[in-house]
Amino acid sequence: MRALVRETTLAAGDLIQPLFVTAAERGEEIPSMPGISRLSVEESVAEAGAVAAAGIPAVILFGIPASKDEQGSGAYADDGIVQTAIGAIKAAHPELIVIADTCLCEYTSHGHCGILRDGQVDNDPSVELIVRTAVSQAAAGADIVAPSDMMDGRIGAVRAALDDAGLTDTAVIAYSAKYASAFYGPFREAADSTPGEGDRRGYQMDPANSAEAVREAELDLGEGADIVMVKPALPYLDVVRRVKEATGAPVAAYHVSGEYSMLKAAAANGWLDEPATVLETLTSIRRAGADLIVTYYAKEAAQWLS
Ligand code: PBG
Repeated sequence: MRALVRETTLAAGDLIQPLFVTAAERGEEIPSMPGISRLSVEESVAEAGAVAAAGIPAVILFGIPASKDEQGSGAYADDGIVQTAIGAIKAAHPELIVIADTCLCEYTSHGHCGILRDGQVDNDPSVELIVRTAVSQAAAGADIVAPSDMMDGRIGAVRAALDDAGLTDTAVIAYSAKYASAFYGPFREAADSTPGEGDRRGYQMDPANSAEAVREAELDLGEGADIVMVKPALPYLDVVRRVKEATGAPVAAYHVSGEYSMLKAAAANGWLDEPATVLETLTSIRRAGADLIVTYYAKEAAQWLS
C-alpha cells in the first residue's frame, strides 16, 4: 500500500554514469573512489556496455590526457582522449547516450577551468576554447555537451557554434549552479586537476547563495541550455528544489565524488548499510526535484534496484 501512494520514483533510467578515460595504455584504480577506475579507451567501451546493460541510459565522459599545457589544447584536439572515446563508445553502443563534460581543467597544466592572464582566469578567451572543445566533442559524436567551466556567456556561445557547424541536434546540459565545493576533492585526484595556484572561487558559486543559482539557471536557459544542473547534490537539495520550481526545466543533480567517497568509506567500515543509504540518498535527490542524477553509484544502484 505504501508503494501505491509513493510520491517519488527512482529507476535506472534516471541515472547517468560518469567514466574517467585515460590516454594511458592501462587503466588504474582511483584510491579515494573505491570501485571507480581511470579506464583506457578499450576498457571504457566495455564499461559503457556494462552500464547500458544495467539499464542506464547515459554516460558522461571525463578525459585524462597524456600531457597538459597552459592552453588546455588536449581538450579541443580532434584526436583528444575524450573525442577518441566518444567515437569508440558510440560505434560499439549506438543506443547509449554519450555526454561529454566540456571543460579545460583536466587539460591545463595549471588546473584551472579557463586560461590565465596575470594569474587570473580570463573569461572571454576561455569561452572561445570551451566552444572549440564542445564543437569537437559534438563532431566526434557526443549526443550532449555539458560545459562545467562556469565562465559567463559560454552556453550561448556553445549553442551558436554548434548550430553554425550544423550540429543542431546536439543538446546542452549547463552546469548552471556549480558551487566552489570541497566535495570535489576525490575527483581532482582522479583527474589530476587540482589548481596549481589559487582556487575556483573566482568562477564557481558561493555555497552560501541560492537566489544566485536561480539567476544562473535562467541565464543558461535563455542562452539555449536544454537541461540545467545543480552540483553537488545532497548538500544543495534546497537549490535543486528552487531551480526546479523557478524554471520548470529539466534539472540534473550531480552527486559528486566526495559524496560518493563518504558513503564508500562508511560502508567499508561497516558503519552504514550501503545499498540502503545509497538508494535513500538518490531518492532524496529525486524528491527534491531532480529529473536526472549523475552519480558514480549509477551502475551499482541500477543493480540494487533490479
Ligand atoms: C570540471 C569538473 C569538476 C567536476 C566535474 N567537472 C571538478 C572541479 O570543478 O573541480 C567534479 C565532479 C566530482 O567531484 O565528482 N570542471
